[in-house]
Amino acid sequence: FQPKVMAGKRILITAGPTFEAIDPVRGITNLSSGKMGYAVARAAREAGAEVTLISGPTALATPFGVQRIDVQSARQMMEAVNAAIDGQHVFIAVAAVADWRVKNPSAQKVKKTGDAAPTLEFEENPDILATIAARTTLAGHPYCVGFAAESENLVAFGAAKRERKGIPLLVGNIGHHTFGADDNTIILFDEHGHTILPRADKLTLARQLISEISKRTNKHSLF
Ligand code: C5P
Repeated sequence: FQPKVMAGKRILITAGPTFEAIDPVRGITNLSSGKMGYAVARAAREAGAEVTLISGPTALATPFGVQRIDVQSARQMMEAVNAAIDGQHVFIAVAAVADWRVKNPSAQKVKKTGDAAPTLEFEENPDILATIAARTTLAGHPYCVGFAAESENLVAFGAAKRERKGIPLLVGNIGHHTFGADDNTIILFDEHGHTILPRADKLTLARQLISEISKRTNKHSLF
């Protein structure tokens, strides 16, 4: 039984990887499965929230009662988030967004020429979470939660990343093997320090996370 701690709240979530095109049939992506973000969306809905899930390419079914918007690239994800953000109480960025995109994707499939291999140039993608966290208009100023996957020194890096992104709550994943796995161990970083949520399946952790967010947002001005 999940108490409806988020009844009447609107929650926007990003999940999955992004896909950055090289040409019409090739691209650059990462190993994010989307499982954690989808579990967070399911847990938020169970808690009574109206949930919008903006998802990169995944093989997962849409959680019951969740409105899902599919995107591919980081820029499309940014546009979809911008279009949906007004009136949201909470924004949870779980997506593994590509830091860079290919600068000049080819309109046609790149062919082997027998000459040198092609060279890819990159340019930086927008930081969706930092962009939303920096908004100051009331209608578009949700409680922002970020995720961080670090392979070392998570406690020090997590606290620093929370500050750098300008967000009240950052969720750190412990270890290298979280992408695609069903289990996870997470650390919550807030203004008071950090709390470890011991290893559990992603849905259990997602439910705990939603409960933690609800406690913290009771003090948030939009609530
Ligand atoms: O800086 P880093 O990529 O480690 O930050 C991870 C957090 O920032 C995640 O919450 C992720 O969803 C979000 N992020 C984003 N847009 C980016 C990069 C990361 O929203 N371009």
